Amino acid sequence: MVPDVTLTPEQAAVFHAIEHTRDHVFVTGRAGTGKSTLLNHLNWNTQKQIVICAPTGVAALNVGGQTIHSLFRLPIGLIADHRIEQNDAVRKILNATDTLVIDEVSMVNADLMDAMDRSLRQARQRAAEPFGGVQVVLFGDPYQLAPVPGDGDERRYFADTYPSMWFFDANVWREASLRIFELGEVHRQHDDTFKHMLNAVRFGQVTAEIAGVLNSTGARRPLPEQGAITLATRNDAVNRINRAQLQRLPGRSLTNAADVAGDFGGRAYPADERLELKVGAQVMFLRNDTMVRGEGPRWVNGTIGTVTSLDKVVRVEVDGVQHEVEPATWEKYKYSWDPVSKKLEREVVAEFSQFPLRLAWAVTIHKSQGASYDSAIVDLGSRVFSPGQTYVALSRLTSLEGLYLARPLRPNDIIVDANVERFMAGAVRELGAPAGTQA
Ligand SMILES: Nc1ncnc2c1ncn2[C@@H]1O[C@H](COP(=O)(O)OP(=O)(O)OP(=O)(O)O)[C@@H](O)[C@H]1O
Ligand SMILES: [Mg+2]
Repeated sequence: MVPDVTLTPEQAAVFHAIEHTRDHVFVTGRAGTGKSTLLNHLNWNTQKQIVICAPTGVAALNVGGQTIHSLFRLPIGLIADHRIEQNDAVRKILNATDTLVIDEVSMVNADLMDAMDRSLRQARQRAAEPFGGVQVVLFGDPYQLAPVPGDGDERRYFADTYPSMWFFDANVWREASLRIFELGEVHRQHDDTFKHMLNAVRFGQVTAEIAGVLNSTGARRPLPEQGAITLATRNDAVNRINRAQLQRLPGRSLTNAADVAGDFGGRAYPADERLELKVGAQVMFLRNDTMVRGEGPRWVNGTIGTVTSLDKVVRVEVDGVQHEVEPATWEKYKYSWDPVSKKLEREVVAEFSQFPLRLAWAVTIHKSQGASYDSAIVDLGSRVFSPGQTYVALSRLTSLEGLYLARPLRPNDIIVDANVERFMAGAVRELGAPAGTQA
């Protein structure tokens, strides 16, 4: 997607710092401050040889990059001080890279951060230089998704080796310094009161008064029957809601099998392999509209609509307007070094074609990461089990009026990781307000 937004002055300043220095940069900021928008802009406008990667398949596809593991050809699981195997292709890519960009860095653990450092030093034969001299640019918000805690042994390894699992506690940062830019301006929400409440959730500073307003708006009215998505903590709850709602609809269902070419890595399909739809089904678009006309895009990634026809063509109604939807193709990229043009080429190694739709009465909070919704039912289930989950869910809403709560918020739904508080309290920012004081 070619971005059509104009960068704000603070976004432009960060772009400038990345483009005109070789400093390592961490771009952070609250949900909706335009981190992904800036990453996309960088991808299209930089003069440097950049390589983009992300910790998960879904996050990598979102930014047109590849996963960290496939880029560096790292084995799954802890790398610790094991020897890093590198073939010629990996060495060439890592040698040609000026800037390594990592999105959703909050999900990267310290072990993986250090493995990337070692791999770059080794490939570039610059053992004494952090990241072998490559500029590293990280995007993410540590108050959102945390690294996935592994099994017992893995957790014990981290406890013995690092101050925490987080990327910012990797050993490489004892040798390298990281400039931190915090974007301050929120673009997703416009109402200052709601922004203030989200901020309180982010920092775990929800007062009884704020909880009262959130609960009296969100939990004291009937849940909408149609049109709002449910954001739930667990996959089984999501599947149950979607299956039950599809079954309740009259009429026949139609199943479309995806076309898969090449090696997609198996698990990281960007849409259902077998997509079952019925007329009346609530669906979410999984891609931005590629046909942008004068009036702007007909839908974006995250837009909710209703299937109105499955007869020869698939039609989806969005805000009262019907659109014909065609299958979309997702491309999985791999970087390689072209010795003739002396450029890093991005080549397509696999393709997945499917209608860019999924059943959307419900999605997991995890999957909703990065998206925006005008209205949603937040279902925190029996308990919230990871830090940042409630913040991610609530911050998807563009306004308080669109918020519905399946049950009232409880104090223990709001979990802030103590390591994040420690790191952010000590972090010197070059933009925005100091720790804890943002309104
Ligand atoms: N400079 C800008 N001008 C206009 N709109 C913008 C700008 N930057 C971002 N936005 C809009 O704000 C919304 C949130 O932006 P984006 O998704 O990039 O934020 P984010 O920081 O990545 O959020 P999250 O942490 O939730 O992933 C999007 O709808 C985006 O188009
Ligand atoms: Mg984002």
